[in-house]
Amino acid sequence: MCGITGYIGHREAYPIVINGLKRLEYRGYDSAGIMIYDGKNIQLSKTKGKVSDLESITNASPTKKVGKIGIGHTRWATHGVPNDVNSHPHFSQSGNLVIVHNGIIENYDTLRKELISRGYTFKSDTDTEVLVNLIEEVKKQEGCKLGKAVQLALNNVIGAYAIAVFDKTKPNEVVVARLGSPIAIGVGKNESEFFIASDASPFLEYTKDVVYLEDEELAIIKLGRAIKVRKIKDDSLVDPNIQELKMNLEEIEKGGYEHFMLKEIYEQPKAIIDTYRGRMLPDSGIIKMAGVDDNLNKFLNAERIIIIACGTSWHAGLVGEYLIEDMARIPVEVEYASEFRYRNPIITNKDVVIAISQSGETADTLAAIKLAKSKGAFVFGICNVVGSSIARETHAGAYTHAGPEIGVASTKAFTTQITVLSLISLKLAKSKGTLSDSAFRMYLQKLQLVPNSVEQLLKIDEKVKEIANHYKNATNCLYLGRGFNFPVALEGALKLKEISYIHAEGYPAAEMKHGPIALIDENMPVFVIATNKGHYEKVVSNIQEIKSRAGKIIAVVTEGDVTVKEIADHVIEIPETEEALTPLLTTIPFQLLSYHIAVLLGKNVDQPRNLAKSVTVE
Ligand code: M6R
Repeated sequence: MCGITGYIGHREAYPIVINGLKRLEYRGYDSAGIMIYDGKNIQLSKTKGKVSDLESITNASPTKKVGKIGIGHTRWATHGVPNDVNSHPHFSQSGNLVIVHNGIIENYDTLRKELISRGYTFKSDTDTEVLVNLIEEVKKQEGCKLGKAVQLALNNVIGAYAIAVFDKTKPNEVVVARLGSPIAIGVGKNESEFFIASDASPFLEYTKDVVYLEDEELAIIKLGRAIKVRKIKDDSLVDPNIQELKMNLEEIEKGGYEHFMLKEIYEQPKAIIDTYRGRMLPDSGIIKMAGVDDNLNKFLNAERIIIIACGTSWHAGLVGEYLIEDMARIPVEVEYASEFRYRNPIITNKDVVIAISQSGETADTLAAIKLAKSKGAFVFGICNVVGSSIARETHAGAYTHAGPEIGVASTKAFTTQITVLSLISLKLAKSKGTLSDSAFRMYLQKLQLVPNSVEQLLKIDEKVKEIANHYKNATNCLYLGRGFNFPVALEGALKLKEISYIHAEGYPAAEMKHGPIALIDENMPVFVIATNKGHYEKVVSNIQEIKSRAGKIIAVVTEGDVTVKEIADHVIEIPETEEALTPLLTTIPFQLLSYHIAVLLGKNVDQPRNLAKSVTVE
């Protein structure tokens, strides 16, 4: 949550910082702000609203855009409502220090009271203004430089942060630090310029050399000098690890699509191929996954597998439970990371924990991983963002290779997570002998056909748009599925809720009669997954029950279906595949449907209200 960008170098800072903020807006978009140092003064512009609102303000005062040092922020509010005053950057009392911050300072109230007793006053309700004044106070008390003051101040802070701090009295440096929230530093040629950002996307066109700060590290960025990285706890020096980025600019742009979400839905055939390429070898009948191969005995001897995740990743985890139990016969539990971390769970060194996260930065998942590790479990990560905190914190893992996912509503991350989970399930099943060699090979062949089937399914876009038009004014919707497709029903409902703000619930189809059936009337659209091998007859009975109560049925069926076609109001066909692989297909029409409903309702598809792409706070 919250995006930070910064620049110090020989170019004009404003365009770099403002364009960077636009790329980071997926992280939060309640308010935005920027400070530019013009060589003498700090020019501050900030406002409630989006980066485009900030741009209108700065365009009206071009002098505020001139200078070679700048830091900017796009906010997802935690402390204090989104308004102009609470927007970042924040000044210290003297006006010399400026800060942008992503995270939460949990003991801010105690610190604030202490600072008030020392004569400080506060303009905003934010924890960030407390932090910048704490740094100023330490600097005054200790008579030290900015870097040291930041280090000492952060040792008094409880919470999470990624910060960038600038001192007007020492205008050739910027100090950044992180704990729990990400920060990347782009390094220009011969240290002639530096870029700072919450992820590398804002500076991709300028440099591919990047240093990702680790937790509890602080970096002093000075022009013409190598970055100095120190441990916040004991001030010890750390060798900065400069990595070369593989990502390119096209991957993070819309490429002709109206929204990132649509682009990402359409990227799924490629994303699935990229995820299994090199791992699945159908001709030789093997699956190679270094993270699993190297730890195979841990998986095979596990008393149980616990999957932890949040949101869409949790839904993928649920598909994983069905897959692993069905194929490899290892007991699996799926937990919300946010519950797991606080409920004193029983975990032992005989457990294998799989943590799933697109961003690799979700605070609850990260904390749950640390807890599982502290109890001796082996933790395996499934992440999309290379080098992310979760990727680094886990013992081993597998990347999803979906490419950058910018739309807040997760789409290709979901299908690629399921792809990885399918590969793991198949690999374990083969190793345990719970799946015959011929069945194993058959699955590999079928999985290889999935991207083609997704491609074919995407051609029904116009039809889905018509259905969306039909139901766009619904106020409540039900999503039903069974077995492997129950998690898809949950995911379908989440997609609709988060981008169109229509209330929707996902249910196991057979559970409907234990409560939700009371909701059904002629105004209730019910989206049902009725694939031909997934307890088909039972689901058909559920559909009949809805029909006899005047509910509207939109069914996702297997190509060639006859029975459901006669009963349902609308039918969407998916290509034939094995039931265990159907979630990779059944989810596509629901993604398209949510997308079109949101567009028809005029909602902001890529940046739905109150949400942020990566949730780095509790
Ligand atoms: O980055 P993560 O996969 O850890 O994120 C977890 C959830 O916050 C995320 O899936 C969220 O539910 C999405 N907005 C769903 O579309």
